[in-house]
Amino acid sequence: MRLAAVIGDPIAHSRSPRLHGHWLRRHGIDGAYVPLRVRARELEDVLRMLPRLGFAGCNVTLPHKEAVLRLAAEATPRARRIGAANTLTFRDGGFEADNTDAYGFTESLRAGAAWRADRPAVVLGAGGAARGVVDALVEAGVPEVRIANRTRAKAEALAEAFPRCVAVGWVPPVEGAGLLVNTTSLGMTGQPALEVPLDGLPADAVVCDIVYTPLETPLLKAARARGNPAVDGLGMLLHQAVPGFERWFGLRPEVDDALRRAVLG
Ligand code: ATR
Repeated sequence: MRLAAVIGDPIAHSRSPRLHGHWLRRHGIDGAYVPLRVRARELEDVLRMLPRLGFAGCNVTLPHKEAVLRLAAEATPRARRIGAANTLTFRDGGFEADNTDAYGFTESLRAGAAWRADRPAVVLGAGGAARGVVDALVEAGVPEVRIANRTRAKAEALAEAFPRCVAVGWVPPVEGAGLLVNTTSLGMTGQPALEVPLDGLPADAVVCDIVYTPLETPLLKAARARGNPAVDGLGMLLHQAVPGFERWFGLRPEVDDALRRAVLG
């Protein structure tokens, strides 16, 4: 039996077991994917033990995404650029750390809308999630990434870390943009709505939220109301899981409506 896990603290809320569980059942694979609550002080020991117990790899969520990079035998260039990893694959003598968030974001955008990377993008937020999104946009060839954050110094630091990025005010210039994406927690159930004026945003610009509870955030609702294509945050969660599943279980799974239903269920 092949084994994989998601490690974090807290972990009970993670949707990854449902997601991988759906693919395991769908493909009749003799395997299991389990959530493990791992405290920071236990992280190193757990990562040594999991391969001995037969685990092929694991996903990593808060608060360990940066720490695992320091413990990795090898890290992919994108994990190094982002400064965090979410997908580990055990090998002899250690593990390889990768970050598939940027891949998940780009795949979700391409699957959810007719997005093209040839116009500026506006990114709201400058935290860990924003780093993955900015890396994805830069890699896709976006000519300019405008980063808007409540705490401007963080937008400036992020803009300096990546090419073709500029820090802009919290009410960002949206003129000429081909994409606007929220990476903050605003709009999530229990949080205030994200209030960003969309006036001036081109009618064909894609609006994307990485928040997926609720699926239709106030931002996406406002975007749809003015006719902009909108992409919800669930797609990124689903697509970022594909490379890990393929590595651990040996088969490249599909992201489809059945998976969306299984994860939301
Ligand atoms: P994550 O890893 O999910 O990105 P994070 O690194 O804590 O989490 O980043 C949270 C982001 O949401 C930040 O950009 C944060 O803005 P600040 O840098 O100013 O803190 C943003 N954010 C969270 N709550 C916010 C609020 N009430 N208003 C505006 N921005 C908020």
